[in-house]
Amino acid sequence: MAFKSTLFLSLILCVVSSDALNDSPVIGVLSQSTPSKKYGDAYIAASYVKFVESAGARVVPLLIDQPDSYYEKMFASLNGVLFPGGGMDDPIHSPYGKAGKIFYDLAIKSYDQRGDYFPVWGTCLGMELLVRITANEDVLASTDASEVSWPLQLTKGFKDSRLFHAAEQSVLNILSNENVTYNSHNLGLTPTNFSKSSALKSFYRVLSTNVDKNGKVFISTIEAMYYPIYGVQFHPEKNPYEWESKSINHSYDAVKVTQFFADFFVSEARKSYHSFSPGTLDKYLIYNYCPVFTDSYFEQGYFFNVSSTLREKLTY
Ligand SMILES: *[C@@H]1O[C@H](CO)[C@@H](O)[C@H](O)[C@H]1NC(C)=O
Ligand SMILES: *[C@@H]1O[C@H](CO)[C@@H](O)[C@H](O)[C@H]1NC(C)=O
Ligand SMILES: *[C@@H]1O[C@H](CO)[C@@H](O)[C@H](O)[C@H]1NC(C)=O
Ligand SMILES: *[C@@H]1O[C@H](CO)[C@@H](O)[C@H](O)[C@H]1NC(C)=O
Repeated sequence: MAFKSTLFLSLILCVVSSDALNDSPVIGVLSQSTPSKKYGDAYIAASYVKFVESAGARVVPLLIDQPDSYYEKMFASLNGVLFPGGGMDDPIHSPYGKAGKIFYDLAIKSYDQRGDYFPVWGTCLGMELLVRITANEDVLASTDASEVSWPLQLTKGFKDSRLFHAAEQSVLNILSNENVTYNSHNLGLTPTNFSKSSALKSFYRVLSTNVDKNGKVFISTIEAMYYPIYGVQFHPEKNPYEWESKSINHSYDAVKVTQFFADFFVSEARKSYHSFSPGTLDKYLIYNYCPVFTDSYFEQGYFFNVSSTLREKLTY
C-alpha cells in the first residue's frame, strides 16, 4: 500500500515539477558478500559512500539476500543506485548480481513506461555486472590491469555523451593525459567482444578505452544511449579515499577527476523524484551504521549481518 502511494506521489511530482531538480537526492549503494566473515557477512567499502556524499547526496545501504519487495520499495524511494567494485569473478549469479539486476530492470521499465529517470552507476565489478546483464552472456575477457593508474583514451564521439559533454576542458585534459584512473581488475570488455554483441552495441555508447599491461584493449567508460546507466572499469572513488595501493593517485588533479564523476552521478540523481514515505528515511540511512577501520584493501568498510540484524531492524 505504502509502495503504491509512493509511486503515485512520485508520478505527480514528476509531472508538476519536471524542471525543478531534487536537491535532496538519496542514493542506494549495493552491498556484497564478505570474503571472510570477520566483521559481518556483507559489506560496502566506505569510499563509495564518501564518493556519493561528497557530491551532496545521502546514502542508503542496500542489503543482499532480501526479498524482491525490499528492492522494489527501495527503487520507489531512492534517486539512484551505485554498484560498487569488488573481488568476485562472476557477479551475475551472486546475491549482489541478483539485487543489481532488479534495479537495472526497474530503471529501464519505469523509464520506458513513464519517463521516470533513475540513474544506475557501476564501478569496476559494477560495470562488469551491467555489461553481463545487458549482453545476457559471458562477454568478459581476461585483462591484466591490476594496481595501475592510467589516463583514459577518450573515443571520437565522447563529447556527445551525457557524461562528458559538460565537462570542463581542464578535467578532460587531466583525464586524457595524467595517470588518474586507478585500475584493479582481471576481467574486461574488449572492443571486439563489444562489437560482436548486438545487445551491447545497441544499448551502450563507448566513451573511453585503455590498453592493459599485455597490450590488450578494453573498454573503460560506457553510458547507455537511452537510459541513465553508466559504467566505469576504473575506480574514481579511490583517489581521495583509499591508501592501500601505491598506484592510487592522490594528486590535486586526481581528486578533481573523482569529484567530476561524483558530481555527475549525483546531478543525474537530482533528476529523480522518488522519495521515502514521510518519516521513514532515517531508519534506512547509512548513518545507522558505523564504518570499521579494517586496515586492509579498503581503509574503512560498513559491515552487515544480513541474515539476522537487518531483517529485525527493517520492516518492509
Ligand atoms: C556479525 O556477527 C558476528 C558474529 O556474531 C559478529 O562478530 C559481528 O560483530 C557482527 N557484525 C555486525 C556488523 O553486526
Ligand atoms: C570475449 O573475448 C574473449 C577473448 O578475448 C573470448 O575468449 C570470449 O569467448 C569472448 N566472449 C564472447 C561472448 O565473445
Ligand atoms: C599522479 O598523477 C601525476 C600527474 O600526472 C603523476 O605525476 C604521478 O606520477 C601520478 N601518481 C601515481 C601514483 O600514478
Ligand atoms: C603514467 O604512467 C606510465 C607508466 O605506467 C608512465 O610511463 C607515464 O610517464 C606516466 N604519465 C604521467 C603523465 O605521469
